[in-house]
Amino acid sequence: MSLFELTYVSKATQLMGMLSLTQILDSAVKWNYSHHLTGVLFYDNGHFCQLLEGENKDILNVWERIERDSRHIILRQLAIRPIENRRYPNWKLRFHGAEQIAQHFQGMEKVLDGMPIHDDDLLRIMRTIAVE
Ligand SMILES: Cc1cc2nc3c(=O)[nH]c(=O)nc-3n(C[C@H](O)[C@H](O)[C@H](O)COP(=O)(O)O)c2cc1C
Repeated sequence: MSLFELTYVSKATQLMGMLSLTQILDSAVKWNYSHHLTGVLFYDNGHFCQLLEGENKDILNVWERIERDSRHIILRQLAIRPIENRRYPNWKLRFHGAEQIAQHFQGMEKVLDGMPIHDDDLLRIMRTIAVE
């Protein structure tokens, strides 16, 4: 069994209301559940960032699905790396809105549009954000 973690940042190509976000989540949760993918999805101010964990082949498959979704464009794939254990084992996909992000993550816009050096900060936050 080889576990991998995938992280990326993307930009929404359309206005994301609650309904659009729920539609994304619905299909994501179903797929992730049946493929034993866990992770976290952040959305704020027109940007997504997501961390997904799962078997190597499942990560590659879901990445294909995500990449070809025209509701967003990938700005950066931050990392794909082997991991020992899941960081988010207890749920399949979790949505953090602006409020939660703001608590952990001031100036998201700056990080997203900033220099690659900020990727380290972003990754650290995504990996350490509390699982209540
Ligand atoms: C920001 C974002 C995150 C997504 N995350 C996932 C995900 O974690 N798992 C998943 O299966 N689909 C995810 N999707 C949705 C898929 O990209 C898309 O709904 C799916 O490929 C639909 O394919 P189908 O219409 O061919 O079933 C995400 C889409 C977006 C825009």
